[in-house]
Amino acid sequence: MQHVTIQPKLINTIADVTPTVLAAMARTSDPRLKQIMDSLVRHLHAFIIETKPTEEEFEGGLRWLTALGHHTNESNNEVVLAADVVGASTLIDLINNDGMQGETMSALLGPFYRGQAPECVSGECIARSETPGPTLYFKGRVTGVGGAPIEGAKLDVWQASPVGLYENQDAGQDDFNLRGVFRTDADGSFNFVSVKPAGYPIPVDGPVGDLLRAQHRHPMRPAHVHFIVSAPGHKTLVTQIFSDTDDALATDVVFGAKTQIIGDFVEHTEPHPDYPGAPLPFYTCAYQFKLVEGESSYPVPPISGKKS
Ligand code: BEZ
Ligand code: FE
Repeated sequence: MQHVTIQPKLINTIADVTPTVLAAMARTSDPRLKQIMDSLVRHLHAFIIETKPTEEEFEGGLRWLTALGHHTNESNNEVVLAADVVGASTLIDLINNDGMQGETMSALLGPFYRGQAPECVSGECIARSETPGPTLYFKGRVTGVGGAPIEGAKLDVWQASPVGLYENQDAGQDDFNLRGVFRTDADGSFNFVSVKPAGYPIPVDGPVGDLLRAQHRHPMRPAHVHFIVSAPGHKTLVTQIFSDTDDALATDVVFGAKTQIIGDFVEHTEPHPDYPGAPLPFYTCAYQFKLVEGESSYPVPPISGKKS
């Protein structure tokens, strides 16, 4: 019997490239991988044909991508940062978490989530080392979308210091400063004490910073506190609560701020009976987190530790 082999087609023109590459990938057995790679190749080739990079530009682009890896370490994930500043992370977020069932909207996990933060009791202060700045009293509730309290929900909280650095970026802060894990009580409530977050620049000492400078963009994120809210039988919420007075809300360098997750950070310049002895001025913020029913999962931390 004669053995018939189908000869791959040789590439002789621009028009030959895309169909030949698609044919080479045609036996991919995982249908989702095939769908994603086929689409990626079609769009990538269309982008190249539209922009017609020179060889120098192509090499420069590859060097920029390589530098993302070289600037990624245990305290910084430049690859995540790159996905954030081009809006890719926010698009993925909105596609997968559209808030259409009345749940609180999500926001980027960001590159500074560490995991393994200390378990705290309700009302505990997460400033573990000297952290100058106005005190913030944060009061929250976790409910279902219909308002029923969720007891025992877990809240993983982290934020930057008032000088705009997460503890893992700053040798001056104790390990896990401004990070903590809280649990809701029977009526879904939790509260903690911290310092009022300030806006801060994302790291600009790597290839992402080079890109922002070339685009004449500022590197600022509006002030926020991060939360991962999880409870059995409910879809885990990864979000940020933003300070309502921050100037950079609409120009967030990573496109993370959304109207629904802007908190009311109230400034108190007079003593208040609920906060006896609080140094003036101090701030309060109350927020209700609404979880939709679904599968509880947990994100993988993009970084593992502290800058040495
Ligand atoms: C953050 O909020 O921690 C963050 C998110 C995206 C990029 C950089 C920082
Ligand atoms: Fe942040």
